[in-house]
Amino acid sequence: MSKDKVDIFDTTLRDGEQVPGCKLDAEQKLVIAERLDELGVDIIEAGFPISSPGDFNSVHEIAKLVKNATVCGLTRAVQNDITVAADALKPAKRARIHTGIGTSDSHIQHKFNSTRDKIIERAVAAVSYAKTFVEDVEFYAEDAGRTDNVFLAKVCEAVVKAGATVLNIPDTTGYCLPEEYGLKIKYLKENVTGIHKATLSCHCHNDLGLATANSIAGVANGARQIECTINGIGERAGNTSLEEVVMILRQHPTLGLDTDINSKLLYDTSQMVSQKMGMIVQPNKAIVGANAFAHSSGIHQDGVIKNRETYEIIDPADVGVNESSIVLTARSGRAALAYRAKLVGYELTKLQLDEVYQEFLKFADNKKEILDTDIHDIITATDLNIESVL
Ligand code: KIV
Ligand code: ZN
Repeated sequence: MSKDKVDIFDTTLRDGEQVPGCKLDAEQKLVIAERLDELGVDIIEAGFPISSPGDFNSVHEIAKLVKNATVCGLTRAVQNDITVAADALKPAKRARIHTGIGTSDSHIQHKFNSTRDKIIERAVAAVSYAKTFVEDVEFYAEDAGRTDNVFLAKVCEAVVKAGATVLNIPDTTGYCLPEEYGLKIKYLKENVTGIHKATLSCHCHNDLGLATANSIAGVANGARQIECTINGIGERAGNTSLEEVVMILRQHPTLGLDTDINSKLLYDTSQMVSQKMGMIVQPNKAIVGANAFAHSSGIHQDGVIKNRETYEIIDPADVGVNESSIVLTARSGRAALAYRAKLVGYELTKLQLDEVYQEFLKFADNKKEILDTDIHDIITATDLNIESVL
């Protein structure tokens, strides 16, 4: 079955970099941008050029450097933001301006002290102005997650008419349920005149832990772009995690959707971003966490040693992890101990294993995890008098 392509719009360097304490310098941003290009993302949101001279400069340098991806700069629906972004993006082979405005009643009343009609006017003016610089203009309806669908469709229709090529439907506050977000996308697909001229994009935040589920619901209902970050970093609880959506689409072929991401670079890219931002990846993080392919209970270890697929739905090699790991703890069984002992040079008979296992349990009750060096000590502590062949 041929699959529909979902574009990956990476915003690690813009929404991701908004994480307190994770600021990157220009050099670090260039290294990450180069890696994102290699990874196969379709669009790199390089920054918010009006926000500071440093951000302008980073976007400008990234625009010069990137070979394949479209380079994008964020703006508010403000002429000067757009002029400055266009300037920063000038050297890009493919440039996109990402402009927009809040559309929920909460944003219209409290942020802008405005009216729905005036918001549409500003949205159209921003897109029309951005179109004087670049062909590719993405419009974001900030807080679309809490925007009434009928009004949202009206805004989308107006900006598509003004030339928007992509319609970003952000769940800015991470409020939506997956079904609700999916139905929002479906509603727009069915009710916006001219929608065939634009790509619908999901931009989901993770305040309720639903960013990935919402993005998948979005593409299942017709969106064809996902906005995401490496390791899911971003404002508050973060953005949709790139590695999660990419692997969900790959592991579920019945969705009929795929991306151009080279998944074998996912683990390494995750580590690179984590190190450069000084932000650790939680060990139980899906796909790229240290424990994502680690097995520690006896029942699971026995299953994985017999056949990896008993407890793993992804081949670790597909995401750039060398192999599954069998972690030795007091909950491990003989199969795991024999497996790890063999890796450090001890081929134990059944009787030897029984004796080593009793010694192992005494050690393991006093330690969180048994390392390779401990295996040597455990075997030496028995009366077996055997040596490693390594
Ligand atoms: O979350 C959001 O609404 C955003 C927009 C600025 C695109 O990041
Ligand atoms: Zn966002």
